[in-house]
Amino acid sequence: MKTIIEPFRIKSVEPIRVTTRSEREAKLQAAHHNLFKLHADDVLIDLLTDSGTGAMSAEQWAAMMRGDESYAGSRSFERFTNAVQNLMPFKHIIPTHQGRAAEAILMSIFAGKGHNIPSNTHFDTTRGNIEASGAFAHDLNIAEGRDGQSEHPFKGNMDLAALETFMATHGDSVPIVMITITNNAGGGQPVSLENIRVVADIARAHGRPFIIDGCRFAENAWFIKQREPGQGDRSIPEIVRDCFAVADGMTMSAKKDAFGNIGGWLALNDDGFAEQARVKLIQTEGFPTYGGLAGRDLDALAQGLTEIVDEDYLRYRVRTNEYIVERLDAMGIPVVKPAGGHAVFIDAKRWLPHIDPLHYPAHAVACRLYEIGGIRSCEIGSVMFGRQPDGSEKPAAIELVRLAFPRRTYTQSHADYVVEAFGELQSEIDTLKGFQITKEPALMRHFTCQFACC
Ligand code: F0G
Repeated sequence: MKTIIEPFRIKSVEPIRVTTRSEREAKLQAAHHNLFKLHADDVLIDLLTDSGTGAMSAEQWAAMMRGDESYAGSRSFERFTNAVQNLMPFKHIIPTHQGRAAEAILMSIFAGKGHNIPSNTHFDTTRGNIEASGAFAHDLNIAEGRDGQSEHPFKGNMDLAALETFMATHGDSVPIVMITITNNAGGGQPVSLENIRVVADIARAHGRPFIIDGCRFAENAWFIKQREPGQGDRSIPEIVRDCFAVADGMTMSAKKDAFGNIGGWLALNDDGFAEQARVKLIQTEGFPTYGGLAGRDLDALAQGLTEIVDEDYLRYRVRTNEYIVERLDAMGIPVVKPAGGHAVFIDAKRWLPHIDPLHYPAHAVACRLYEIGGIRSCEIGSVMFGRQPDGSEKPAAIELVRLAFPRRTYTQSHADYVVEAFGELQSEIDTLKGFQITKEPALMRHFTCQFACC
């Protein structure tokens, strides 16, 4: 059969509230045009993020009943650790309440004033944690990764020549080398196994730990299996193990590819660094056998990790995005190609050349899409990345709108509805105006800043 179906049936449903366009225009106005400030009841299809928003399986809910809430040494921790180590063979697994807590602990050990930390592209929370310590975050993604039209199979790859030069120039001030799989900020694009291995070699040659931000490791492995020569006959768990075998540690948001509504972990091989991390963990998250989580959460994640590597699931998961990308592309809407693993990305720089990057064209698209269809998306552009550590502002390299799909949550007709809303938006595109920011915090401003039309 050619039709790729959702490989599950629905046992429990959650109603969504239908609203009118004028109602939504008023709600957005009241939220100072920041989509993060909307009430979820006022959103029809919520594609703000794929983080923690997915549906758990019957087996995960059942696993929660097995949760052992012992403060220390729980069975849940043992099951969680075994499930992680089955895929990621690190010596120390340190549970945290979500990914950014793992990043904060990692950076408390390695970052600090004047340090330089390279990655293919740091996600915003990683960048925030680096910059808050006084260090600098550097993005060394290959040029194709910034070209929405390039059909390169691994647009998330690190620019290896740039990394070599970077290490030669900044060597002493580089405490760790990182890579993000898939490259979320760059369009959910994968990193090849070969690229991961060479980055690991470069880090090792300079005596620096290599840390993988593994949030979407299963989607990344699916792309490796589909696209990388010699990988097609291998199982997803085998590919995942190979990716992590060359690293010295990882940060993880279990709200993505562990099917969790909450959770994360930091993994390290080095005993001394793990000791430091656990001291910080006890100070900020909790005892090392639960971190920032309940025992039942650890059990849900342990089960989730066995489900996320299922090939029928991954095929359907990636196909949802491809389907929308194909339809929007056929309508002449500039989409990032090929489709990413967890999201569809619209290139607002190309779609709205009449809006200056510092008047946030991607934000303008996200706002109008909400007004038209009640669809909540997310700007990944100059709102998110434009503010510099010294407080000045510079256009970001990309102006993207991200439609991130919660896992196992929406169906084919929701995807068709999204496509229809884009048709309407296309007919209004010339009427879109830019925005200015009227109020913002010092770091990670996109979550809370306020906008006015200009
Ligand atoms: N790294 C990447 C690549 C991410 O995408 C995220 C979160 C994090 C780290 C931080 O994890 O949220 O558990 O603290 N990304 C979400 C998103 C928020 O919408 O893409 P967290």
